Formats: sequence, C-alpha cells, structure tokens
Amino acid sequence: MNILSALTETLSDAFAKCGYDASYGVVTISNRPDLCHYQCNGALPAAKAHKKNPLAIAGEAAALLQGDGRFSSVETAPPGFINLRLSDVYLASLAKDMAADERLLLPLMERKTIIVDYGGPNVAKPLHVGHLRSAIIGESLCRLARFLGHKVIGDIHLGDWGLQMGLVIAEMEERGLGADGVTAEDLNEIYPAASAKAKTDAAFAEKAAARTAALQKGDPGARKDWASIMSVSKADLRRSYDILGVSFNCWYGESDADPYVPRVMNILQERGLLRESEGALVVDVALPDDKEPMPPMLVQKTNGADIYGTTDLGTLLQRKELFDPDEAWYVTDNRQAFHFKQVFRCAKLAGLLEKIQCFHFPFGTMNGKDGKPYKTREGGVMRLNDLIDTVVENALRKVNESDIPMTGEEKTEAAYKLGMAALKIGDMQNHRTKDYVFDMDRFLSSEGKTGPYLQYTVVRIRSVLAKAREAGIAAGEILPPETDAERDLLLALPLVSDALLRAFSDKAPSVLCETLFDMAGRFNRFYFEHKILQCPGHALRASRLAMLGLVDRVLTVLLDILSVEIPSHM
Ligand code: ARG
Repeated sequence: MNILSALTETLSDAFAKCGYDASYGVVTISNRPDLCHYQCNGALPAAKAHKKNPLAIAGEAAALLQGDGRFSSVETAPPGFINLRLSDVYLASLAKDMAADERLLLPLMERKTIIVDYGGPNVAKPLHVGHLRSAIIGESLCRLARFLGHKVIGDIHLGDWGLQMGLVIAEMEERGLGADGVTAEDLNEIYPAASAKAKTDAAFAEKAAARTAALQKGDPGARKDWASIMSVSKADLRRSYDILGVSFNCWYGESDADPYVPRVMNILQERGLLRESEGALVVDVALPDDKEPMPPMLVQKTNGADIYGTTDLGTLLQRKELFDPDEAWYVTDNRQAFHFKQVFRCAKLAGLLEKIQCFHFPFGTMNGKDGKPYKTREGGVMRLNDLIDTVVENALRKVNESDIPMTGEEKTEAAYKLGMAALKIGDMQNHRTKDYVFDMDRFLSSEGKTGPYLQYTVVRIRSVLAKAREAGIAAGEILPPETDAERDLLLALPLVSDALLRAFSDKAPSVLCETLFDMAGRFNRFYFEHKILQCPGHALRASRLAMLGLVDRVLTVLLDILSVEIPSHM
C-alpha cells in the first residue's frame, strides 16, 4: 500500500480511539526532514473543534503508537504536531515489499476509459516546436494513466480538413502536379509557398477556398488529391513521431469527424440552441456568474464551411460512440484555452457530456534565450525535424568526446537517446503550464537536472549489476540501513507511489522529474560513499545489490513514463 495512506490509516485509527474524528489523522511528508520523516498536524484543528490544548491531543494520539515497530520515534512538538520517524527495520521491509510489487506499491484505482487528444499535427504543414510539447507531454500523460491502470486511447487528431488542404491542392493544380506525384519534401515546400501566395494573390486565395469547400462537399477530384496528400504526409509524420518515441492508438483526423457534424447541428437545432447572427449560426455559451466576457460560439459560417469548434463537437460525438469514454483530455498550448472552454460548454448544452468529463490540459511556450518563442537563427519558425537533428548532432559530439570504447552503431544509439532525453527532460522538468527557455548546452550536460544526468545514473547502476552477474554474485535480502546515505535512499523509495499519484492528479510530468532527480541524487551519494561489490560481508553485499536492482527498476519505470530510453553504453 501507498505509505501515506498506510500511515494516515494508522493515525486516523489513533484519533478515533481517542474520541476524535478519524479525518484528523492525515499524514504528510515532513517539511522538516531534520526532525522527522512524516508528520501529522491533525491535533491543531481537533483542538479548535474540541476547545482543548492541541499538544495534549497530539500526545493522546501519539501515545497509542508507542511500541509500533514501524516507527523509531513518535514525538509531539509544539504547538501540536506529531512527528514520525520510520524504523530501519520497517524501511527495509518497505523496500522488500516494493521489490516484490510490479506496481511499486501503487494502490489500485477505479479503472476509467480515457481518450487523450494530443500531437495534433496539421497534415501537409511541417511540424514545428509547438507540436513537440503536445507530443511529449501527451505521451507521458498517456503512459502515466496506463501505468495507474486506466484504459487509455491516444488519438493524434490530425488537422486534415482545413484551409491548408485547399491551399495545397490549389497549388498542386497550378504546378500541374498529379495527385500521385507529390513527395514529403514537396509538401514541406508547397504549403509555405501556397500560404504566402494566398496572402498577396486574391484569385489564388479564392481558388484555395473553393478547393477547401469542394473537398468538404466530397468532390471526387479534390478527394483524390486529398487522399494522396494524406498518405504522403502521414508516412512522414509517422517517421517524426517514431523518432520521438510517441505512438498513438488512433490516427483519426478532423475529416473523420465530418460525418458527425450534421448530427451535431441537428441536436443543437432540436434543443433550440442555434441562433442566427449576421448570417452565421452561433450558440450562446455564457453563464450567469462568468467573470470574463464569454461571446457566443460560432458553429457555422455564412458560407457553410466547417469550423474548428464544430469539428471538435463532431469529434466528441464520434468518440462517445466509438469508445464510450469516461474522460476526454486535450493537450494543447494555453492559447487554445478559450476555444476548449466554448467547446465544452456547448457540448454540455447539447447533452454530449452526460457521461464524459472533458479537460483541457494546457502548456506554455518553449522560448529562446531572448524570452520570445523559439525561432531559427534566421528568425523563422523552427521545424521540429530540424530541432531534433541539431540536438542529436550535438549529443553525438558529446558522445565522441567520451573515453568509453563504443562501436559506431553504439555511438549513434547513445547520441540519439541522449538527445531525446535532453529534449524531453529539459521540457518536462518545468510544470507544463509554464513557459521555459530552450538551452541546448544545459539540457545536454551530464550534470545538473538533465536527462543525460539521469541516464548516466541508470547506466552506472546497470554496469555494477552487470559486473555482479559476470562474477556470479547474487542479490539478496535488503537489510535495515546502517548509514545515513543508505537510509536516505531507502526513505525515497516509498515516496514514489505518492509521486505517481500526484503527477496524475495534477497531470504534471514535472512531478516525476523531481522524483527522478531526488532519487538519482540520493543514489549517487550512496554510490560514492559506499563500496558495493567490494563491500565486506556476503549479506551486506547482497543487500546493496538488491537495493541497486530496485533503484534501477524505479528509475527505469519513471523514465519510461517520460518516454526516456537508456543507452546501452555512455
Ligand atoms: N491541429 C491543431 C493545431 O495545430 C491542434 C488540435 C488540438 N485538438 C483538438 N481537438 N482541437 O493547433
């Protein structure tokens, strides 16, 4: 069981036995690690309610815990704290339980079906760094929810139905390119060219709009061009997401929501929610206690073309019918917060959310060192593939400096994994809602709070474990800690399940990064202060090896949730 719930249960019992409400027994991690490991502050509110001295109440509850072998001390401190220290024997037994539990002592959660909408690339447009955050944060949230036991369906939600498709089709026509003749490189160049042209060439802009409308109405020629753009673009996107280690269960797009849109419009109509406004159709979504103005949501333009919000409503209906989810999560940057607010409100009015709970989990911007959104050296939008190439090239330079003998293939593997870890941990160690500065040198450093630092730690552990295996030395039972460094390491272990739960409730991969840095720091101190393979005594050596094995597993599980892989050499 999760340590905080186990201790809370014990303290709640104690409060109840003394005649107070059990809810006073909440135990938290100590904020004074010099004094204790865990604490309970429930005597303070209990004293208020019972008009008694808090220290006296703390004393009554604490008295019941004396003699409980899990604690090395249970003390009260003014004004009414209960301070708990775990005994060495208990720490060892917790580690043992954890080693035997695949789920790292996580409590079972009620299993939910969750659809996660992330990635969100736009077909035929190059991926840019904004798509990076959605992909890696979304992937981590999916993996975290799966680890906690939920059924997760990750959907890429391709932007494949908008004006960009019409622009590309129109430009292909002007260039006399047949539907089968385009390559991914063509597309990378065609879209920016067409988009620029539409800005200055009104006739072309009109043509692109017409092609978009034709596509949405099912015109066979436009559909054929669209299909070939889709297949080229999807293959290219798959390559990029494979490199990032991001994989979606579904590759649905906005186009797949199209058949649901007329049904959504019918529902809105039947419920009397549609209102005409300047030739367009809108739905009023304001609520009486809104603090900020909430304009009506536009659901149909004058020309009848699909819009982003209506497509999202169609998508919700599609998801409801295909997956019957309990929750729908949307991982996009925070500039779309308003959009989702409107969509969720409108969906609720339409009765689409009877069972589904919708959440937008927004993220901030990746900035350059100038504090502005990250750009190329020339000031253009940084393409994701270029960013990845640059990071991996720099990682390769680092790998080449290393004096560890490696084959060319191993070097390529190490550089790739190092680069990805630098990028991902550099990003996710910040709370997702914050903007952060992309600093490649710092992200790639093997010291400090970085991905490579975490990978080095795991590689170090694994190399000791490999040596032990070669020498035929087996791990054994984890013994009660004898030194501060050992105790500190063991103390960190039961906190992992709590961190996983916190990361989940806040949808914050950064919580897992903190746990990783904390654990790696404690491990490295232990490693530098203690002999492992050369340590005196069979039982102690076997115990330390078992600790290494457990720390390896914990770090690996957490890193895997963050989609960080460990190089075989570095
Ligand atoms: N394609 C959109 C973009 O690039 C993101 C899609 C987000 N998901 C959604 N259901 N609207 O901004």
